[in-house]
Amino acid sequence: MSTTFTLDTATSRAHPVPEPVRRLTVPAIQKRKAGKGGGEPVVMLTAYTARMAQLLDPHCDLLLVGDSLGQVIYGLDTTVKVSLEMMIAHGAAVVRGSYRSVVVIDLPFGTYEDSPEAAFRTAARVLRETGAAAVKLEGGAVMAPTVRFLAERGIPVMAHVGLTPQAVNALGGYGARGRSEAEQAKILNDAKAVADAGCFALVVEGVVEPLAVAITEAVSCPTIGIGASAACDGQVLVVDDMLGMFERVPRFVERFDDLAARISAAAAEYAGRVRRREFPTEAQLYR
Ligand code: KIV
Repeated sequence: MSTTFTLDTATSRAHPVPEPVRRLTVPAIQKRKAGKGGGEPVVMLTAYTARMAQLLDPHCDLLLVGDSLGQVIYGLDTTVKVSLEMMIAHGAAVVRGSYRSVVVIDLPFGTYEDSPEAAFRTAARVLRETGAAAVKLEGGAVMAPTVRFLAERGIPVMAHVGLTPQAVNALGGYGARGRSEAEQAKILNDAKAVADAGCFALVVEGVVEPLAVAITEAVSCPTIGIGASAACDGQVLVVDDMLGMFERVPRFVERFDDLAARISAAAAEYAGRVRRREFPTEAQLYR
């Protein structure tokens, strides 16, 4: 088999083939914990489609097929409504579109919480049908037995504590967590419990900054912050947020572009040219 990869545009615009690269591994990510011989910050972005995965992959260590796709792609009001079929379809697309990053797929609400065995069945299906390397689940101490059960059976688990969006109905909103000492102690305990149970990395979302620092110091796996702290071992953002696709910009987001405005301008330009019969031009016609 040839080892020379070229850009193959013959079949479809969706299949550029890159130079050969080796995909990062879960153990390689684990070694990136600051102070453990590693320490290079871990870069993670969400991705939901093959083409976006192709564009992000060279720049990231991890691509997260987050259940935020419910809001970002499907216009749902919460992630609670996301199905396993959605996660598997988008997860497989992101694996097809990536070559270097470790792909992690969110287990959707209602598919893993009731028992470690149920979580194993869901996670095994996700890995089998997508080719991803790991799953992510939300929850702290209460999910620690499940994290251990999966990890001991060969399923790498990324845990997620602090603001856990699947629990929005119980939390009452998306406000930052850890504003009281009691809540800080609970979230710290949650983080230690899932880390001791064997999660390979830990998303810390929407917590007051000193708590994110304390969690990062307390656990032996890399922490990946979102609305947390620059002291976390890595960072994640929802890709559409950082590209400027939405008008609403939460405090923890920095817009690295203004794609919504640029898409709107391109669509307006196209519409104008079609209406003036200026498109297509000779260059786009078959003679
Ligand atoms: O669903 C998601 O995109 C996430 C990230 C925000 C961490 O869980």
